[in-house]
Amino acid sequence: RTVAVVLAGGTGTRLGLGIPKQLLKIAGKPIIEHTLAVFETAPEIDEIIVLMATGHVEDARQIVEKAGLRKVTKVIEGGDTRNATTRIALDAVGPEDCNILFHDAVRPLLSGRIVRECVNALWSYDAVDVAIPSADTIIQVDDNDCITDIPVRSRLRRGQTPQAFRSPTIRAAYRIAEDDRDFAATDDCGVVLRYLPGTPIKVIDGSDENIKVTHPVDVHLADKLFQLAAAQAPRLTDHRSYSEELTGRTIVVFGG
Ligand code: CTP
Repeated sequence: RTVAVVLAGGTGTRLGLGIPKQLLKIAGKPIIEHTLAVFETAPEIDEIIVLMATGHVEDARQIVEKAGLRKVTKVIEGGDTRNATTRIALDAVGPEDCNILFHDAVRPLLSGRIVRECVNALWSYDAVDVAIPSADTIIQVDDNDCITDIPVRSRLRRGQTPQAFRSPTIRAAYRIAEDDRDFAATDDCGVVLRYLPGTPIKVIDGSDENIKVTHPVDVHLADKLFQLAAAQAPRLTDHRSYSEELTGRTIVVFGG
């Protein structure tokens, strides 16, 4: 059994809308509805669990009901931090062994291809991450904003979600983390890396479109990307995204 956990426990302070950003409408639907629809239509996913921000669980339930999302079995309240939300999700999934994909509710442009590759990778690996190369050079700075290191760019990736696990692995990592008073992590692969060192974490290719709606500019970007996806929809096959469709095609640019 493969469960998709949609993490929507945040409030979106950086976007500063006054409502959690996952409820913001883009291309006619709340962001979270787009996200849930990807898992609903992915044949690899059996069940979806939604962890929603405090005070908005009913909003999420209504979205699920109105959209007729039949794979969603639970809509419950998340925690104070992303990792606290993950812990609640682990309890909600139940004790039996399964595959779990954790995905940010605010990445609505996830492709079916990424879901499929994550689930397939779990045949060979206990933990799977999704990432893309960085076009920008990444620099490390100290407290005074002075550079301390410039890691080799070809070795760097920008982490996205889903992050996928065989359930015993992610449960074991969180169990050890519970005893660490300094525990702090922003993602779930980080918990496995830190508390179960030596566990190979396979990285599969994400996509440029799988953006996390974080800042106001991302809302415009996501809106445009949905427009492009809709324009391409009749031609897109196999749940490929717009940039995946562009890859390998010759683009002719006319200009003086
Ligand atoms: N998330 C969560 N529970 C939390 C915090 C975050 O489930 N306590 C989820 C968010 O809802 C989001 C994802 O984790 O889907 C990525 O987090 P982020 O983009 O940081 O979302 P917010 O915490 O909502 O945003 P901000 O940091 O700007 O407040």
